[in-house]
Amino acid sequence: MHRHYQLVFLLVTGLFLDAFAAPPQVPLTVSEADAEPIRPRRKLQGRFLHITDMHPDPYYRVGMSEKSACHRKKPRKAKERSGVFGMPFSDCDSPFTLTNYTLDFIEQQWASDIDFVVWTGDSARHDNDRKLPRTTKEIYDLNRAVARRMESVFTSKGIPVIPSIGNNDVWRPNEVTFEFSSIWRAFVPFPSYQVFQRGGYFSVEVIPSSLAVISLNTMYFYDSNKAVGGCEPKDPEDPGNLQLDWLEVQLKMFRSKGMQVWISGHVPPSASNYFPDCHVRYVELSLRFQDTIVGHLFGHMNADHFFFLDAQVASGNRTSDLIDPVEAQKKKKDLYGRLLQDFAHMHKGVKDIDYDNYAVVNVAPSVVPNPYLPSFRIFSYNISGRAYLAGELGGARTQEPVLKTEDRQGNTTVGATSSPCSDEGFQNSLKCKSVKRWYSSPESPSRRNTLWSPLGYAQYYLPNLTGTERRPPKYELEYMTFAPSALHTGDGKADAAKVWQPIPLRHLPKSLRNSTVSRSKYAPYMMEDLTIPSWLGLSRRLGRGQHEKLRARFKRYMYMGSSREGFVADQGDVMIV
Ligand SMILES: *[C@@H]1O[C@H](CO)[C@@H](O)[C@H](O)[C@H]1NC(C)=O
Ligand SMILES: *[C@@H]1O[C@H](CO)[C@@H](O)[C@H](O)[C@H]1NC(C)=O
Ligand SMILES: *[C@@H]1O[C@H](CO)[C@@H](O)[C@H](O)[C@H]1NC(C)=O
Ligand SMILES: *[C@@H]1O[C@H](CO)[C@@H](O)[C@H](O)[C@H]1NC(C)=O
Ligand SMILES: *[C@@H]1O[C@H](CO)[C@@H](O)[C@H](O)[C@H]1NC(C)=O
Ligand SMILES: *[C@@H]1O[C@H](CO)[C@@H](O)[C@H](O)[C@H]1NC(C)=O
Repeated sequence: MHRHYQLVFLLVTGLFLDAFAAPPQVPLTVSEADAEPIRPRRKLQGRFLHITDMHPDPYYRVGMSEKSACHRKKPRKAKERSGVFGMPFSDCDSPFTLTNYTLDFIEQQWASDIDFVVWTGDSARHDNDRKLPRTTKEIYDLNRAVARRMESVFTSKGIPVIPSIGNNDVWRPNEVTFEFSSIWRAFVPFPSYQVFQRGGYFSVEVIPSSLAVISLNTMYFYDSNKAVGGCEPKDPEDPGNLQLDWLEVQLKMFRSKGMQVWISGHVPPSASNYFPDCHVRYVELSLRFQDTIVGHLFGHMNADHFFFLDAQVASGNRTSDLIDPVEAQKKKKDLYGRLLQDFAHMHKGVKDIDYDNYAVVNVAPSVVPNPYLPSFRIFSYNISGRAYLAGELGGARTQEPVLKTEDRQGNTTVGATSSPCSDEGFQNSLKCKSVKRWYSSPESPSRRNTLWSPLGYAQYYLPNLTGTERRPPKYELEYMTFAPSALHTGDGKADAAKVWQPIPLRHLPKSLRNSTVSRSKYAPYMMEDLTIPSWLGLSRRLGRGQHEKLRARFKRYMYMGSSREGFVADQGDVMIV
């Protein structure tokens, strides 16, 4: 299980040379005197791309049947044949025409408007055709092909790319990091090589000394991976435990530098996907460092949704269908139903929700139209607000931040006005049981709109995959979390053109470019920002019975209008161990 550790030293020497041949991750701005500026500074745009699950398939052929994974057997009816840009709502993977077109589109339309790219994995085809079994070499070749495109589209322009390993990228899960450190040599910063070699996880300061992205290797948490132990407390050497130990050190380090971080990975941290012990540890860390983590970005499920990491549930105080693995297994097929039930549960009879007890996980839909439609997400974040400085060593701090830092030692609560831990109902909660310092603050970027807070996202998709090379289909805005009024920040001002806009107007449909528009079919959620209170507000509205229209929208985005709601992402993946 830990054989890969022994390889570290051999590899580092080889990679050392590589590192100089191909400069790794390029910082956006250089603040430290000893960091060499390799490329011209880029002005901060306040946006980033989240792209996931591309699944290119080199065997994809046009005009073939879904049953053969679009590899063979021309169906009689033209309607049932695979198209040039893929087969919507099917079991087929992406043709290279689709993945190339998507990245070309993003390069032309978006590259100058974004600061970094979160890319949450699965860049090989599924192993879903018995006649064409997937080989290790093929997995690596596909990953290498996509990585080279990502380099030329983003890294070469000074835009950092933070990839993570997906379950379909993995052959022998624990040896894969060896190969990936070569495939991703342009993405993994040199100081992270050694850790990446060992575990397949790393972090990048996408805005040096300010904002970082942590890429996790979720294969050590994913309960389908039988090669790992699942973070059992009695096994400190378990790769999942080692990764969470590393994550804690990273969070402490970034916090002490006064930085904020996004956590990213392939398989989302839900109880139905993670080993129970990994799940509880992940929730505990996420909440304990709530003032340092701006958000959690994952893929794998292919269905657009969000869910909460919930202290009460993880500590076993409250049950949840989403969290209870037995229930989840039974209802695995009904993700929408489980989420809504969970949202309803969370708010039932609760007057003042304790924001300390929650973190939000955003799961983006895939590029592969399996089984929905190709899409990608552009997040906007605050680049003009006041910095929240949490860390002990944080720069030139002029005043003590208004911290509700609570030191949970049995009954002791420091800084909080009241101690919920003295309340019997809470005594079992994760937070009250934790004896470590609990870092949460209503002033932090995950809780209120300030510097580095996520403000919203716009999601683009290909609603109609019909097209030819000469007349390709068109990416369109599917929806956005903003209210239309939030888009027109500069209107009416003399220097309107210079005022930052969350989504540059040229990326919007005509109806949204009119600054007098206050409601729109593209803006169902009308969220002020993407802080924890805003997500809890949306979940409250969704959980209540009376918002039928809103629920219908949420469901439509989740399944993109497909009737194939029963789809469960990637269940059939084969991992040889
Ligand atoms: C996709 O792009 C790669 C790299 O530019 C190119 O080699 C390949 O031929 C393209 N494939 C298709 C089907 O367009
Ligand atoms: C960014 O945060 C500041 C508070 O620090 C706030 O005043 C400002 O409105 C925010 N910017 C946006 C675009 O929301
Ligand atoms: C808190 O715990 C300490 C011992 O750990 C005890 O002496 C003290 O009385 C407790 N305070 C309350 C309010 O229960
Ligand atoms: C924890 O469980 C108890 C007993 O079921 C319940 O009364 C209490 O409200 C729960 N606490 C929270 C915070 O959900
Ligand atoms: C999809 O696009 C094709 C080609 O542009 C067009 O002929 C067709 O009518 C479109 N289908 C729908 C449902 O809009
Ligand atoms: C913007 O919308 C308003 C009505 O909401 C309309 O009167 C006005 O003509 C529109 N402006 C443009 C430029 O389309």
